[in-house]
Amino acid sequence: MKRLVVFYSLDGGTRLMAETIAETVGADILELKPVNEITRNNFMKIFVGGKQAILKAEPDLLPFGLKPENYEIIFFGTPVWAWTYSPALRTYFRDHKPVGKKVALFYCHGGGPRNFLEKFEGAVEGNELLGSIDFKDPVRHDKDKDSVRAVEWAKEILKKAGNIIEK
Ligand SMILES: Cc1cc2nc3c(=O)[nH]c(=O)nc-3n(C[C@H](O)[C@H](O)[C@H](O)COP(=O)(O)O)c2cc1C
Repeated sequence: MKRLVVFYSLDGGTRLMAETIAETVGADILELKPVNEITRNNFMKIFVGGKQAILKAEPDLLPFGLKPENYEIIFFGTPVWAWTYSPALRTYFRDHKPVGKKVALFYCHGGGPRNFLEKFEGAVEGNELLGSIDFKDPVRHDKDKDSVRAVEWAKEILKKAGNIIEK
């Protein structure tokens, strides 16, 4: 079964977990990149990004060559923005809504995801949800511990999917 990791990351935490998961399960990786990215080192980013998330903005993304419909197992990763998933992922779900896939969800947050997971799960309705995992700011906190958790979780997911690890 072909595996794919689709993710967005602004500050690198979700990217680190995405790369760890992809390496563990032998997945291709698709990083979503908005055409107009928010400036990272701007204290305003929380307001700009938060507003986008609250307003359910769907920013244009840079084109990518991968065809997500060719994959059977898809891991989706995002930071929590204003208690929901990132606008880049919202655009992705609009254009490439997964249907009938085996999916797993991972997300990074700053300690207050609230009812985030409900929304994330809602976005992948119509698929077989194999599991989810959260990481609290892995880059700033304990990235080694979180990387170990990501590896263990990814292996579990693959087992649930009835898959062995081979490319
Ligand atoms: C625009 C914006 C909104 C955020 N909203 C939340 C939130 O609602 N709850 C929360 O726990 N963390 C929130 N955070 C913190 C991020 O989810 C957290 O730092 C995450 O680890 C960042 O992932 P990344 O490094 O992949 O970008 C927000 C961060 C940004 C930039």
